[in-house]
Amino acid sequence: MIAVGSDHGGFELKGYIIKHLEQRGIAYKDFGTYSEESVDYPDIAKTVCEAVTGGACKSGILICGTGIGISIAANKADGIRAALCGDVFSAKMAKQHNNANIICMGGRVIGSELACMIVDTWLDEKFEGGRHQNRLDKISALEN
Ligand code: RB5
Repeated sequence: MIAVGSDHGGFELKGYIIKHLEQRGIAYKDFGTYSEESVDYPDIAKTVCEAVTGGACKSGILICGTGIGISIAANKADGIRAALCGDVFSAKMAKQHNNANIICMGGRVIGSELACMIVDTWLDEKFEGGRHQNRLDKISALEN
């Protein structure tokens, strides 16, 4: 189960991503927002992060206008590794090296086709472990 959330700046792109997940038969839960009315992205980030760290969802997709604010907010949560991606190479590395459990994108930055490729890459790649796990352990040690 993938947790999906956006603020108003990512609302339109969230719709495309959800359609894409449905086409792939991937289960998801939509944590909002549900319109283009202005909301605060930290609230959405918090809900999606709680779904991931609590175990209700395996991973998450977060979208705001740039992807910046929502990724900053998500990375405040212990146990979250949120990667802001605007290209497919970064999405690949985000899984292989960083084992990102949340991917973030900017709805006002990238188009829907690229966004779906980013999501597919991140979903389909595998974490390499080894030296990368040591680095993730050091990131965990920085948490509260
Ligand atoms: C909202 O206008 C916008 O600031 C937000 O979507 C995001 O881009 C923040 O980083």
